[in-house]
Amino acid sequence: MAEKYDVIVVGGGPGGYPAAIRAAQLGKTVALVEADKLGGECTNYGCIPTKAMIKPASLVYNALKLSFTRGEITVDYEAMMEWVRGIVERVSGGVSMLLRGYGVQVYKGRAVLASSTSVELDDGTVLRGDRIVVATGSVPTRIPGLEPDGIVVHDNRSILGLKRKPGSMTIIGGGYIGVEYATLMAKLGVEVHLVELLDRLLPAMDKDFSRLIERRLKKLGVKVYTGTRVEGVERGEGLARVSLSNGQTLETDIVLVAVGRKPNTQGIGLERAGVKVDERGFIRVDERMMTSSPMVYASGDAAGQPMLAHKAFLQAIVAGENAAGGDAVYNPRAVPAVVYTEPELASTGMTLAEAREKGFNAVEKRYPIGGLAMASIEDATDGFIKIVYDADTGTVLGAHVAAPHASEIISELTLAVEMGAYVEDLALTIHPHPSISEAVKEAAEYILEKPIHYLLQRRKAK
Ligand code: NAI
Repeated sequence: MAEKYDVIVVGGGPGGYPAAIRAAQLGKTVALVEADKLGGECTNYGCIPTKAMIKPASLVYNALKLSFTRGEITVDYEAMMEWVRGIVERVSGGVSMLLRGYGVQVYKGRAVLASSTSVELDDGTVLRGDRIVVATGSVPTRIPGLEPDGIVVHDNRSILGLKRKPGSMTIIGGGYIGVEYATLMAKLGVEVHLVELLDRLLPAMDKDFSRLIERRLKKLGVKVYTGTRVEGVERGEGLARVSLSNGQTLETDIVLVAVGRKPNTQGIGLERAGVKVDERGFIRVDERMMTSSPMVYASGDAAGQPMLAHKAFLQAIVAGENAAGGDAVYNPRAVPAVVYTEPELASTGMTLAEAREKGFNAVEKRYPIGGLAMASIEDATDGFIKIVYDADTGTVLGAHVAAPHASEIISELTLAVEMGAYVEDLALTIHPHPSISEAVKEAAEYILEKPIHYLLQRRKAK
């Protein structure tokens, strides 16, 4: 006998568990099926553990970097990773507690859609639901010959299991994961080689981000190879020999492969439920997160780019609400993206090119934050804020921030884009002093040609 629910959610990551919670809040009976750990890739193997590693790496590195500190601090890598695991367990445990509290029935197992109203678990359990939400996430892209073995060649999961800090590492891929790991490992004293196929790091992001981060990584001692292909990896006993297209061979203790991710949508029965995917394997959804099958919704990485946890959260809430009979839409004007390097890099809304493509008379102005007191205190005088706006109306369309706490500051700019704020609104809003967030106000004043902490033109005193 199949167990029956109003809503079945497949996947317990950021694209899944909020859907279950929202449907339960709306009074529905809900089941959630998760094959691995609650919280998904982000909580267990991505966002959370890496940010937890970045924190102590930065604390120690930045303390030692000051010219007036004395003595030594050493990092016990194993103990640090134990602490990281503790944080991950607490966050994952929090998800479990919330689901229980909302009365969501959690099943552990791998689910396959058997039809548009039923799923089958690997232990034979069959669940029936009026609606299904598919949130199966994504998996790392594999390169033949560079498959991780979890010993010498790693992916974002296996690297978390390292017992000791490596002496040296090669990172293949200069995207999000590549530059975050290069930053944190270099700060821990690891010799890092970072190889990127295209001609700049973070090739999908703003060019000024790439320039700044390459300079900063080199300052940390990272060897950066852009426009370089990995020809092969020879695995030895505790050693990898990585041959590069420039003729060089790198010998390092480990290799981390981070060359992108792809949707996890194969072999989960989508065709049996009448759910269509696009040419890249992403599930096709409308703005209500409904798939080509009206009984099935999808959210998160499986439902398209960008593959970011916070995008998944909102899509999951929309999917959960609609699966519960509501009428919500996912139609953001701005999706922030953050890279947790030093300084942090964050973008939101439209780029200049996107805005012009959409027909706006768009302009982008770059404000260097070096004149701010907090930029000196935070050692980030090379940071900047760029605001993209409509020159006809003054409406804020997008922004790029390279500064300490950019991950926090970007929320204000995302709100500005969402609300259709004018540049003048940012300029007239009092920001706390001293803070990095003052850069938002100053950048707006700069656009309006009246910044205080930036010299527009030199005048002679009388
Ligand atoms: P990515 O797409 O950000 O970067 C992959 C990089 O690898 C690209 O720059 C690409 O040009 C390069 N590449 C591809 N093939 C290569 C090859 N054979 N040799 C050298 N370079 C090659 O993907 P990444 O870093 O693996 O991260 C996966 C996903 O995880 C991201 O798309 C992102 O959505 C998510 N993520 C988000 C974070 C955040 O929000 N802070 C942090 C980490 C990951």
